[in-house]
Amino acid sequence: MSYDLLAELGTAAADLGEMLDKILPRPDGQIEQRLFQAMRYSTLGDGKRLRPFLVLGSAGLFRVSRQSALRVAAAVEMVHTYSLIHDDLPAMDDDDLRRGKPSCHKQFDEATAILAGDALLTQAFEVLADDDTHSDPRVCTQLVRALARAAGPYGMVGGQMFDLVGEGKTLDQTQVAHLHLLKTGRMFAFACEAGAILGKAPTSLRMALRAYAHDMGLAFQIKDDLLDVEASSADLGKTAGKDIEQEKSTFVKLLGVDLARKQARMLCDQAIAHLDVFDDEAEPLRAVARFVVERGR
Ligand code: IPE
Ligand code: IPE
Ligand code: MG
Ligand code: MG
Ligand code: MG
Repeated sequence: MSYDLLAELGTAAADLGEMLDKILPRPDGQIEQRLFQAMRYSTLGDGKRLRPFLVLGSAGLFRVSRQSALRVAAAVEMVHTYSLIHDDLPAMDDDDLRRGKPSCHKQFDEATAILAGDALLTQAFEVLADDDTHSDPRVCTQLVRALARAAGPYGMVGGQMFDLVGEGKTLDQTQVAHLHLLKTGRMFAFACEAGAILGKAPTSLRMALRAYAHDMGLAFQIKDDLLDVEASSADLGKTAGKDIEQEKSTFVKLLGVDLARKQARMLCDQAIAHLDVFDDEAEPLRAVARFVVERGR
């Protein structure tokens, strides 16, 4: 039977949901329970769970236990959710809708949203450093270092700064590609390398996964920018049309819709070609790359 990506995405999302529910603090009448409620409200929402799926897909190449992979998947999703909560704040993209619900600062308030983001970010590293994630502390250290690198000044946070500074400017294609690599690609790369770190895979295979992730991450962000122009807020679960309104630097602005779509498909093919070193066991990663450029939300 051919590989059923949608069914597998569903299973991964359900398993991840259970893991997150176990990890996230429970509001139990504590004075600070509002923070715990906000963390759960945003993280347990209706995300596509693509980064967790990539962790599970890369872990599947190296016989990593499901428990270890799910804990790393949860940590990635916690950092990703923090980035979305902060991205939606009035000081950044000022978006009222996220994952089909009011954004965190709308449902709670700005201070709570800032703190919920901070708490998700810090707790993610506690998860990675724990013995339950891997029995070898060197593996835990590598995971911590790689996620910190992907999320920090040389990764997502640097990219978010670039994105804000790029508003209203005319950046060239190399600059926009670099902005997307930082803002989105590095977190995808961590998700794909995580399986290789957990499985102590050889560097050559880890590099193949990194190359796959960088092309796929760029394709993913181009598709995100296309959807911002082409889809409705109801379909997206976030406000459509924000990039033009905020004069963001995107491939769509630079190349137009048709060429941007072509570019995304070309990057997707290129991403899949990096997986030639693997056999059928990489089918989930091939299928999810195609999904990334064809998705409707
Ligand atoms: C949105 O990411 C933020 C970007 C990097 C463009 P996703 O489209 O993966 O968001 P969720 O997790 O499905 O909500
Ligand atoms: C945000 O990119 C990427 C993050 C690191 C959160 P966008 O600002 O385009 O993401 P959306 O469209 O709001 O999800
Ligand atoms: Mg943004
Ligand atoms: Mg945004
Ligand atoms: Mg966007």
